[in-house]
Amino acid sequence: MSTKIKWGIIGLGKIAHKFASDLLLLNNVELEAVASRDLAKAKVFSKTFHSKKFYGSYEALFQDELVDIVYIATPNNNHAQLTILALEHKKAVLCEKPFAINKQQVFKMIEASKKNNIFLMEALWTRFLPAIKKIKSSIENGEIGAIKYLNADFSFKALPSIQRIYDKELGGGSILDIGIYPIFLAYLILGMPDKIIAKAHYFESGADSQVSIIFDYKNAQAVLFSSFNSNSKREAKISGTLGEIIIDSPWNEATSFSLIKDGNEEKISIPKIGKGYAHQILECNTCLLENLTESSLWSHQNSIELITLLDAVRKEISLVYAEDL
Ligand SMILES: NC(=O)c1ccc[n+]([C@@H]2O[C@H](COP(=O)([O-])OP(=O)(O)OC[C@H]3O[C@@H](n4cnc5c(N)ncnc54)[C@H](OP(=O)(O)O)[C@@H]3O)[C@@H](O)[C@H]2O)c1
Repeated sequence: MSTKIKWGIIGLGKIAHKFASDLLLLNNVELEAVASRDLAKAKVFSKTFHSKKFYGSYEALFQDELVDIVYIATPNNNHAQLTILALEHKKAVLCEKPFAINKQQVFKMIEASKKNNIFLMEALWTRFLPAIKKIKSSIENGEIGAIKYLNADFSFKALPSIQRIYDKELGGGSILDIGIYPIFLAYLILGMPDKIIAKAHYFESGADSQVSIIFDYKNAQAVLFSSFNSNSKREAKISGTLGEIIIDSPWNEATSFSLIKDGNEEKISIPKIGKGYAHQILECNTCLLENLTESSLWSHQNSIELITLLDAVRKEISLVYAEDL
């Protein structure tokens, strides 16, 4: 592999555009190829983001010998199948969140990575933001003492035109799409809870429109919320015995936070590259150059535990997808 990592992108929708614009900001990458189910769409995307090639099918891109790693940006329901197909073609994979619909699918994806000895990572981009890394290390260093309470939400009034969000067949619903972020933060800071309580409201399609969740730990609690029904400030609070951290809005795209201790508030700003997706791209590049099959910052085990929590919340609210049956 050359020192320039050659990327491919499949599923040329909204997030693929944002991802590609961040990719262009980096030096050690090339956008080798892009693929859509629609060749004309791939051509336009290729022109916009200067990819060397474009394809009218995902499989054609998987067969491109020059592509090192594929970014999968399709709806939630086909992450598992496309990831496994890419890995079988010996392509490394960065797959959008949620990694899959359920834990069984995630196990199969990781099994395919291990069998083919190829890198695989969930695109949990918030984990790689410099501000989030700093918050995590500050807490581990005891800056705000023992954590007792965490509060995070992700809520916005969704447009009726964004079909993917409402469609259960595509893996729609607030928990898998955006609830994953507050759940991720609680997991990152507090680990696996002892008990989960959750209540949901639903769209007519059966996908969840909003969910309130409590994660109960032996010595702490996390109160989490996701919704497509209304806007929220999207601030996150982490409260410990010696102080508090408030992550500025939108917390999942963090570039700054307040550290409140002894009545003093210190504002800490740590910029991100581009829209913030660049940091997960850099992590993939580093892992590939080091011949790793997983990242230590967001490992396969982290993805297994996150999907275990998503499955558990879904069990609490009786939300079943076809993939579960
Ligand atoms: N990391 C983030 O900040 C972030 C933000 C938003 C979404 N996401 C995740 O990214 C994924 C895509 O979200 P998005 O908002 O980009 O969705 P989107 O705009 O609908 O794009 C998804 C793309 O997937 C492809 N696709 C393949 N099968 C499809 C099907 N049956 N129906 C519709 N599209 C299909 C299409 O690309 P082609 O027509 O080119 O084949 C489509 O443009 C989701 O898993 C979502 O959870 C992540």
